[in-house]
Amino acid sequence: MKLGTCYYPEHWPQEMWEGDAARMVEMGITHVRIGEFAWSRIEPSRDNFKWDWLDKAIDVLASAGLQITMSTPTATPPKWLVDETPDMLAYTADGQPRRFGSRRHYCFSSQTYRAESRRITEAVLKRYVANPAITSWQTDNEYGCHDTVESYSPWAEKAFQKWLEAKYKTIGVLNAAWGTVFWSQEYQDFGQIQFTDRTVTEANPAHRLDFQRFSSDQVISFNKEQTDIIREHTKADITHNVMGHFTAFDHYKLGADLDITTWDSYPLGFMDQEWWTDAQKLRWMRSGHPDFAAFHHDLYRACSKGRWGVMEQQPGPVNWAPNNPAPRDGMVGLWALEAAAHGAEYCSYFRWRQAPFAQEQNHAGLYDSNNHLAQGGVEAKAAHEVLEKLGELKPHRAEVALIFDYEAKWMFDIQPQGTGWHYEKICFEFYTTLRRMGLSVDIISPHQELTGYNLAIAPSLPVMPITLLSRAKQAGTKLFFGPRSGTKTADYQIPEQSPLSAIHHRRSESLREGSLLEIEMDEQFYRSKIWRDFIDESENVKARFEDGLPAFVETEDYDYLATWPEPKWLRALLRQVLNQQNIETFWLPKDLRLRRTDSAVFAFNYGANDIDLSRFAKSVDFIHGDHILAPARTAIWKA
Ligand code: GAL
Repeated sequence: MKLGTCYYPEHWPQEMWEGDAARMVEMGITHVRIGEFAWSRIEPSRDNFKWDWLDKAIDVLASAGLQITMSTPTATPPKWLVDETPDMLAYTADGQPRRFGSRRHYCFSSQTYRAESRRITEAVLKRYVANPAITSWQTDNEYGCHDTVESYSPWAEKAFQKWLEAKYKTIGVLNAAWGTVFWSQEYQDFGQIQFTDRTVTEANPAHRLDFQRFSSDQVISFNKEQTDIIREHTKADITHNVMGHFTAFDHYKLGADLDITTWDSYPLGFMDQEWWTDAQKLRWMRSGHPDFAAFHHDLYRACSKGRWGVMEQQPGPVNWAPNNPAPRDGMVGLWALEAAAHGAEYCSYFRWRQAPFAQEQNHAGLYDSNNHLAQGGVEAKAAHEVLEKLGELKPHRAEVALIFDYEAKWMFDIQPQGTGWHYEKICFEFYTTLRRMGLSVDIISPHQELTGYNLAIAPSLPVMPITLLSRAKQAGTKLFFGPRSGTKTADYQIPEQSPLSAIHHRRSESLREGSLLEIEMDEQFYRSKIWRDFIDESENVKARFEDGLPAFVETEDYDYLATWPEPKWLRALLRQVLNQQNIETFWLPKDLRLRRTDSAVFAFNYGANDIDLSRFAKSVDFIHGDHILAPARTAIWKA
């Protein structure tokens, strides 16, 4: 795995560039990403291109032997462009155009902006395509960051209507699919269809789902316009940097148009900002949740054609979470090694140097704003030294896959049917439990190939692809479905017949927080929460609710779990299912995680105390570290 950094030559006097490049090389950095926010310096007014400074910066970096990822600058359209073409702006849900003054203020559907995006992409591309130092291209920056996938502009409304017409062909088909007879909402014409914001109460769920699909498709097609232009001129790799905990567009689809999928990993920012409990936030305040980065590494590997990496790695405290603690010394290095363990080909720190001005002045870099080496820089160098020892790492194919689906997330957000229901959380709880069992897990889409997996777990999958069961049978993969699986059609209706023929849903209920159901399995008592499917009695009931009805059913091809298990039951349940597939499991301490490649096993300590590895690493040959794993440290042994 190579190390990189994100660099903004436009923020610093030219005299600093050479020293910066030399120190990057010294630190073990081989790749630099530049240019993603530089539009106002590249083109200060229409067609008045100023390339000299950028030519020089590229020259300095290339002369030091660095490889460059050049970006299209479309995430930050400059003021003159907004003033010239105000219809490029995105609109908020209450129908107001966004203001200039931060970033990502464009609307994906604005044809005016599409033309500008193609124009600037061509311009940057033509200028630098022949430069051998530029070995890859990044499109835009973090599509959707700051909740910008959806726009409610006049352009978006027209484009949505056209998208619907292309999908349904006639308005009658749309009316039937959406069930618009309900509440007298039938349409006579695609031109009548508006956004679902500002309705009095809940809007039609299929309408909302289609708006989400449309908005996602707009991101994919915006990106595709840029990748098409780039590919016309060069065979260099194309990437885009996606985000953590972000599901507003279908990342599997985006990945299909990229050569390398990269993502931006900020374990502490997300720990503090997201939905973990206060106790978890305190416990892992300085390390991030031990499964946060891993989950996204595994997810984005699935959203790629096999090549992926980290474009932005947290280097120290960030500025954007509600609270921004410093990572425990060692974590900045550990995070990079963890990316390598999951098969990343690239891990790049954001940013080289802390900016003394503007919005992100409180965000750390590998150097501080006065150009002193920061803790992040010390650790990047240390990570480089370990990577040198490791050489090339071949990925390991996991035996267990976890099925993650963007449409499932959208559908459940639209009709959660209970405040406790949370799609990402249930997926995460399964993932964490599998990892505590010492397993490496692959995340896959429900449409992906299953060959090679003994077990594929869908914590919940409302819409089941028609071919899923037959593909699993062919691949010899046992399927496991969690609650609510198979309960919706792609049109957001209840199917006449469940795709799981052995499971007969009678009704479901959601439960308020604190309300727990008692479960009996193997003469042991456990608990479940949040959701219950009432399903009919059948042959192989392995666990029952207190009232005697089935809670977990096994069939030859798949298992069905009718509720959301509490941790203790989830562990016992998964252990049983994994044992049946002859998959060996451990139970790791809370702060320890393992991940293997073909040739090595990595152990990561996310806690504040030493961990004795003797139980998990008996008579092993250490490549790095030893049996006593200090906080924020990594041990690596031969597999
Ligand atoms: C990312 C973004 C960067 C920078 C960084 C700060 O979301 O791509 O430009 O803002 O966060 O952590």
